Amino acid sequence: MLENFRQLPRNDRPVSVLGGVRSLHTHGRHVDFDCGEAKIRVGVLAPNLVRVRLSPDGQWKPRRSWAIAAEDESWTPTGFELSETPEEIAIATECMEVRVRRESGLLACIDPQGREFARDLAPGMHWRDRRVAAVKAIEAQECFYGLGQRTGLLEKRGTVATNWTVDSLDYDLLTDEMYQAIPFLMVLRPGLTYGIFLNSTYWSRFDLGEADPNCWRMETDGGELDYYIIYGSQPSAVVATYTQLTGRPPLPPKWAIGYHQSRWSYESQDEVRAIAREFRDRRIPCDVIHLDIDYMRGYRVFTWHPHRFSDPAALVADLRAEGFKTVTIVDPGIKYEPDADYEVFDGAIASDYLVRDRSGKLFHGYVWPDKAVFPDFVRPEVRQWWGDLHQPLTEIGIAGIWNDMNEPAIADRPFGDPGTKIWFPEDAPQGPPEEGATHAEVHNLYGHLMARSSSEAMERHRPEARSFVLTRSGYAGIGRWSAVWMGDNQSRWEYLEMSLPMLCNMGLSGVPFVGCDIGGFFGNATPELFARWMQVGMLYPLMRGHSALGTRSHEPWCFGDRVEQICREFIELRYRLLPYFYTLFWEATTAGTPILRPLLYEFPDDEQTYTIADRVMVGPWLMAAPVCRPGVSTQAVYLPAGVWYDWWTGQHYRGPTQILAEAPLERMPLYVRAGAVIPLAQVGQFVGEGAGDRLTVNVWPPGESGLPTTFIHYEDDGESFGYREGDWATTTYRVRQGDREIVVEIGERQGHWTPPSREAVVEVVGIGRQSFEDDGRSRSLVFPL
Ligand code: GLC
Repeated sequence: MLENFRQLPRNDRPVSVLGGVRSLHTHGRHVDFDCGEAKIRVGVLAPNLVRVRLSPDGQWKPRRSWAIAAEDESWTPTGFELSETPEEIAIATECMEVRVRRESGLLACIDPQGREFARDLAPGMHWRDRRVAAVKAIEAQECFYGLGQRTGLLEKRGTVATNWTVDSLDYDLLTDEMYQAIPFLMVLRPGLTYGIFLNSTYWSRFDLGEADPNCWRMETDGGELDYYIIYGSQPSAVVATYTQLTGRPPLPPKWAIGYHQSRWSYESQDEVRAIAREFRDRRIPCDVIHLDIDYMRGYRVFTWHPHRFSDPAALVADLRAEGFKTVTIVDPGIKYEPDADYEVFDGAIASDYLVRDRSGKLFHGYVWPDKAVFPDFVRPEVRQWWGDLHQPLTEIGIAGIWNDMNEPAIADRPFGDPGTKIWFPEDAPQGPPEEGATHAEVHNLYGHLMARSSSEAMERHRPEARSFVLTRSGYAGIGRWSAVWMGDNQSRWEYLEMSLPMLCNMGLSGVPFVGCDIGGFFGNATPELFARWMQVGMLYPLMRGHSALGTRSHEPWCFGDRVEQICREFIELRYRLLPYFYTLFWEATTAGTPILRPLLYEFPDDEQTYTIADRVMVGPWLMAAPVCRPGVSTQAVYLPAGVWYDWWTGQHYRGPTQILAEAPLERMPLYVRAGAVIPLAQVGQFVGEGAGDRLTVNVWPPGESGLPTTFIHYEDDGESFGYREGDWATTTYRVRQGDREIVVEIGERQGHWTPPSREAVVEVVGIGRQSFEDDGRSRSLVFPL
């Protein structure tokens, strides 16, 4: 095993391996194991959550995890039993056991069925210099997921995943380092799931059986190994606990889950107005327009171009009058411009907010504005200052901020030359001086803390309404601060196909509000690719079309009438489904649940689903089998156990089965699970339009043998923060099928929010419909068969 330590820095010093346990003592929720100079600390935070720390020198340094939302003390104390035998020490909670071997310090967990998981293999935890690592067994049937933004297949066994944020603009199927760095691994086998969160912001790497198919290993810098083990009988339990640990997203404004249109760049206010007009004239719904870097004066952040965007306030107001929200891009590089009265630069210098090297010299590199300097977002006062720079934007009505190039992406010479990517020296001091952090420790947090600054600023400066924040880079827990898009993809079929496993793994990694550039960023989409991409994009939690400078126009009407009509229909389908999507976003805020899910999330006992990446679930009820290849008009679809209805034809199938679906260009195969309850809206041209006076709830029969199903529909005003004070409404639907009828029971509306007066229509698809005035009272609707 030791020969596999090829990633440890090469030098003459030996690798140290944990010795046997000499003594132990318990204090509160922690058990300390004395293993000679080194120590292990096991903390029981919840019945299914255990934290393991290794200190090679026996000192516990203060930990600054910028990602942890629930520190050890904040977990409700939970009992555990400690027992000892001559061979091992066992810590048992209600649902798992951790065993530590006395002789070797090797650790293993046991589930309620007595199955081992997260089991150390010799040498277990080990270290050299400041690199620390652990090796664990790959058990039979185990599959690997998560690890944030990943290219390639959904299942990750046999691969290596490095966590170090980079501008991976030329990524492909084999790229390792990406924009996001999320050291969270999910391991699944039938009946048993576990998660590992490696609590290190330093460079880290998981080898998932690439070097040795019998084991996986994780390693990181920083001198202390610190990881959490999360047990669950299925993935949803692990994601719930992981997101409790690292934070869940806030509820976005409802408009942010409508369609977004972007382009690098709409170069003038006239062009933006023309784009907005096209949407309305052509009756293609759209809620948001993004302004890319050309709205600025010479790419100076927090400025407007004096000619091309001479009256941004009027532009934003006019767009608002047409039902559009405006989002502006904000990049972290500040143009280096002494003596030019550029307030942002002058303010940063005056307050010394910029990253400097160890000798105190100002760090600079090259980005859009040419020579640029960079704020140190690790310092709270810098985040506050930067956030306040957003105020002029919010004052004119900007409703969202798009953070880009925040890995950070920097070149060593002016853009245009084939420069080399660089970042701050790894020993550059960052953060409050008394904390002594260097760039090596906080590199992965640059985009994360920038997004935090934007998110906090938007709430400070737009307290009356929820805002939208989008980021390219982030670390574990980024969903608390921002939605995330997957950076610069390409207008090619393999990128369309890759988008689904990538977004699914983001969702399993606790980041539900995610999307890819619809149509592809670099290159020119063909009409067929664009139509298929809009169908897939309708499933993305963040539905945004975007494209690069120099490519053909990628708006929905640029590919001919047939494709335009397909785009219209699929954007309209998204708008019809908004009440369902919005409820899924609410679930994400309360349980961390992914919105876009791989099949394995819903069918974790069906091993067939473990590698299916191109069929996805939106929430619990809808399954899509989108076409991601050219020239396809029929498509093989695996339907897991249960009854499924074809969304378009109503035809039903009994799974598990394989079917051949018709998939002409106009159609994305879409299926609904028996017993589904899906609230639907009337389609408007933007979220606020047309939503009001009717709520339709479609129900699909559970089938005679089907179990009763339940769905909680969440609603609020979609805009304000009132939901935090109880201004929300939930309605519970229960559906059961007897011999002669289907009964839909509607519970009394809960919460303080009352929807505008409206008609409710409940339709049991293929059976019948009933309507009534939606007064919030409970009722039982009987549909004779
Ligand atoms: C980066 C972003 C892209 C943006 C461009 C110009 O490439 O990833 O989305 O359009 O910069 O700002």
